[in-house]
Amino acid sequence: MSVERLRAGYRDFAANEAAGRSPLYVELARGVAEDDELLAWLDRLPVGKRQPNLLFSAARVVGGELDGYEELRTLLSERRDDVEALLLARRTQTNEAARCATLLPLLAALPQPLALLEVGASAGLCLLPDRYAYEYDAGGATHRVGGGGPVLRCRVRGPAPLPASVPRVAWRAGLDLEPVDVADPEQVRWLEALVWPGEGDRLETLRAAIGVARQDPPRIVQGDLTTDLPALAAEAPRDATLVVFHTAVLAYVPREGRAAFRAAVQDVGATWIANEAPRVLGLDPASVPPSMFALARGGEPVAHTDSHGASLTWLA
Ligand SMILES: C[S@@+](CC[C@H](N)C(=O)[O-])C[C@H]1O[C@@H](n2cnc3c(N)ncnc32)[C@H](O)[C@@H]1O
Repeated sequence: MSVERLRAGYRDFAANEAAGRSPLYVELARGVAEDDELLAWLDRLPVGKRQPNLLFSAARVVGGELDGYEELRTLLSERRDDVEALLLARRTQTNEAARCATLLPLLAALPQPLALLEVGASAGLCLLPDRYAYEYDAGGATHRVGGGGPVLRCRVRGPAPLPASVPRVAWRAGLDLEPVDVADPEQVRWLEALVWPGEGDRLETLRAAIGVARQDPPRIVQGDLTTDLPALAAEAPRDATLVVFHTAVLAYVPREGRAAFRAAVQDVGATWIANEAPRVLGLDPASVPPSMFALARGGEPVAHTDSHGASLTWLA
C-alpha cells in the first residue's frame, strides 16, 4: 500500500467511521493523515497492521489514555518500538456483544433449538445471545426481550420481526485464528483497548458481557474459517438447527478465502447469517448507508445495521 492510500484511509476513518463516535480518534486519525513520517513508518509494516484502530489501541495500551494528537506523536517518538511490537503481536479482535441485538430477530425465527457456530468469534461474546437482555426502541415503543446480563439497546426502523423470547441454544462453539480467553487479564485489557474512547456505553457493555462469559465461557477453537469450518460443524448435534454466523470478520479475509468459506457453509448445510460491510458480502456498497453493515440470511440482505449493533433498519 502506498503512503497516499494510507493517508486516504486515515482521512476516511476520521470522516466516516470515528466522526460522531469518538472525537479523540477523529483528531488522532486526522493527525496521522497529515504526518508523512508516521505514514512512511506505517507503510513499512505488514498488511493488516497499519489500520487506525489497531494503531490507536496499541498506543493506548503502551502509553495509557491519550489526550490528543500531540501526545500520540510524543509517544511514537519515545516508545515506537513498544507500540510496533504490540501492533505486530495483536490483531483487531473487537468483540461487541451488542451485535447480538441485530442478530436476534433472525436467530429467534429459526426452528429451535439452535446449534450456534460463530466464525471469527474473538472471545465469543456474540455466541451468548440467550444470556443478555434486550431493549428495542421501535419508534418510541420499547420492546424488551430476555433478562440478566447487560441490557443491549437497539433502535429499530422498519418491520423487524422482534421476538418475544431469546433463542434456545443447544450447542455453541466459535472458531478464531486467535481465540481470546476471557479469564486472561492481559487479553481482556486488549479487548478493552479496542473500544474507542468516548463510547462509554460500549466499554460498560463489554465488561458486563465478559462477566457473563466468565460464568460459563463458550468454547472457541483455534482455526481458520476458510479451512476449518467442516470439522467443527460436524460436532454439532443433528437435532438442532445449525447456524453459521459472523459479524465484522470477512473484511479481514482475502477474497479467495471468502469464496472458500461460502462454499463450506453450503456443504455443511447450515443456515448462514452474516452481519458485515456490504462489499465483503458481494453486495453493492451504495445499497447500504455509509459505514453501516448489511445483515443477510443465506446471502440475501434483510436489514441494515449499525456496525456496533446500536441500530437495525429492517428492509420491507
Ligand atoms: C473484529 S473481530 C469480530 C469479533 C466478533 N465477531 C464480533 O463481532 O464481536 C474479527 C475476528 O475475526 C478473527 N478472524 C479474522 N480472520 C479469521 C479467519 N480467517 N479465521 C478465523 N477467524 C478470523 C479475528 O481473529 C478476530 O477475532
